[in-house]
Amino acid sequence: MSNITHELVEKNTGLLVIFIVIAVSFATLVEIVPLIYDETVAEEGGVNKPMPNMRPWTALELEGRDIYIREGCHVCHTQMIRPLRAEVERYGPYSRAAESTWDHPFLWGSKRTGPDLARVGGRYSDQWHVDHLTDPRSVVPESVMPSYPWLATNEVNGTKVQEKMRLFKDRFGLPYTEADIEAAPDQVQGATELDALVAYLQQLGIAMQGQR
Ligand code: HEC
Repeated sequence: MSNITHELVEKNTGLLVIFIVIAVSFATLVEIVPLIYDETVAEEGGVNKPMPNMRPWTALELEGRDIYIREGCHVCHTQMIRPLRAEVERYGPYSRAAESTWDHPFLWGSKRTGPDLARVGGRYSDQWHVDHLTDPRSVVPESVMPSYPWLATNEVNGTKVQEKMRLFKDRFGLPYTEADIEAAPDQVQGATELDALVAYLQQLGIAMQGQR
């Protein structure tokens, strides 16, 4: 845009507002239009349907997810692969709405200081994650990710795990059985926060594996 036109837009509030509305609508359309054509967006009793091969988080993974939120991993990492060629080539199949059916709060994010993690499950070994989370520079020398050494020594606090599973079941429709909930405290007993976080990371995107 030439300087004259630029000045015109900056000094004319009405025109500026019109251009802002166009810019914002465009960004909104880019987010909404692909969803209209997404065959996995289907409602069932007013709730979005999960992917057919999705399973609910185990008790340990659920605790890991809470640690992920507590440590602010989502501040640097998205879990949302956009339907753009460069993203699909780098990270795998783009994120479908149905994958987030059970994610409350969802962890899509928009800020990527680190890579997207929506399909990181199975990409590395458990030991790689242990080393990486304890000291990222030990496996990726140029990494700027912070170290989380306390995760290896903190034990998972499982006192609320049954309550959390009940909440996800009753409020958000996760298909937990009474037996799952009954067994939960034993499953997290004695595990470290690192175990829980790695278990969570390793299931990210697993339901979508092999689909492109
Ligand atoms: C300050 C920003 C920042 C925070 C906070 C952060 N990371 Fe990272 N993360 C990065 C960067 C940058 C990379 C890329 C370099 C590397 O692999 O270490 C990365 C890489 C990763 C990778 C490897 C991804 C891949 O595909 O190679 C995983 C897994 C990961 N982070 C998990 C986490 C978890 C779990 C947390 C929270 C405990 C976390 N990160 C917090 C910045 C961050």
